Amino acid sequence: MPTTRSDVGNLLLGGLDLAAVVAETGAGTPSYVYDLDAIAAEARALALAFEGAPHLVAYAVKANSAGLVLRALAGEGCGADVVSGAELALALACAIPPDRIVYSGVAKLDPEIDRAIGCGERGIGAIQLESVEEIARVEARAAAQGRRVRVSARINPAAPASSLETHAHIATGHDEAKFGIPIDDVGAALDRIAKAPHVELVGLSVHIGSQLTSTGAYAAAAREVFRIARHLRGARAASLAFVDTGGGFGVDYEGTRGAVVRPADFVRAARVIQREEGLEDLALYVEPGRSLVAAHGVLVARVVQEKHATGRSGERRWLMIDAGMNDLIRPALYQARHRIVPLVAERGPTLPWRVVGPVCESSDDFGEHELPRAPGEHVAILDAGAYGFTMASAYNGRALPAEIFLAGGRVAHVSARATEERWVRERLM
Ligand SMILES: Cc1ncc(COP(=O)(O)O)c(C=O)c1O
Repeated sequence: MPTTRSDVGNLLLGGLDLAAVVAETGAGTPSYVYDLDAIAAEARALALAFEGAPHLVAYAVKANSAGLVLRALAGEGCGADVVSGAELALALACAIPPDRIVYSGVAKLDPEIDRAIGCGERGIGAIQLESVEEIARVEARAAAQGRRVRVSARINPAAPASSLETHAHIATGHDEAKFGIPIDDVGAALDRIAKAPHVELVGLSVHIGSQLTSTGAYAAAAREVFRIARHLRGARAASLAFVDTGGGFGVDYEGTRGAVVRPADFVRAARVIQREEGLEDLALYVEPGRSLVAAHGVLVARVVQEKHATGRSGERRWLMIDAGMNDLIRPALYQARHRIVPLVAERGPTLPWRVVGPVCESSDDFGEHELPRAPGEHVAILDAGAYGFTMASAYNGRALPAEIFLAGGRVAHVSARATEERWVRERLM
């Protein structure tokens, strides 16, 4: 469950009082706090949508690569969608079997491809080929290892960008995007794959983008791919074992409960198409990231100071916190909006506050939020479990934030923040 409030108005995550968690762990702020039980429950709920049909939930590691998160999801049967050799190594180290890993990415390096080919008895579940040019590279690396590697063709359906209903920076399934094999080149790509003796086509995949709030464009892309799969089945790809309809299931960042379709709705939409195309014997893979973790993580920040001014456009009021765009870049990068709430709810009147961080950039701005007149010592930035810590940087000489993991009604682990001294030492060289 995402955050709730106690009887006295304190913000809770995983049933624990966040103010107490931050104080008692000594982790300080800014700190990410995650509810591992709720993340696992999210994966269980999604698995139900498959109703026992063959499937793989390949968790997109990029969303939150904490080992404890990966292990919690692996414990629920999830595999992994990785985008680098390091993510692959991490997934393997978190006991995700190679067979349950797919590897996406438009510019995989040779050593990364080698690692994917070389692990386990048959390499990973599938290297997702994202261009016609990549086929020869993967074929050559597999030949050098004397192995036959499983691949899937990631198709770019060239959906009209406007149909993707998401921010341009996270839309991937349109004609201008660098991702995937352009739909018009798929025939040529499949011919090349068929002629490459060291690659075996086991899947077709698509991922049109992130933060989708309706199933329409997702279903349309899934249909394209299932259609190609049906043609292939009739013709040449006896080895085809799965169709992967990607991730991108949107999250209710506004907190308008029920207004955003659930991850299971995307799976159900894809399954309807799979049935209509008569391909129920194929496994259905999906690659959710954000929807499994976002709501179950918060970024706790301390209020550093207020700033008031009477500008030409009227009264201005800023709330300056110790978390910045280096800790959570989504608002600066995608104009994303995260709700911000006090850890300890104050009764009484609220005011619109412009909440900003300490980073020396105008875009270090979390937007305007209705908060108490006296906002208290700490605030929480909600729905920060995805693309938060994984995108954090040390910009402005700021230490990476701490991470606190909750499970079973207690603090399971604390990853301390990197120290300022370490940053200075490293930059001194
Ligand atoms: C190939 C691929 N699969 C899955 C995802 C996960 O998307 P989301 O976190 O929106 O579910 C991404 C994210 O960008 C991606 O690039």
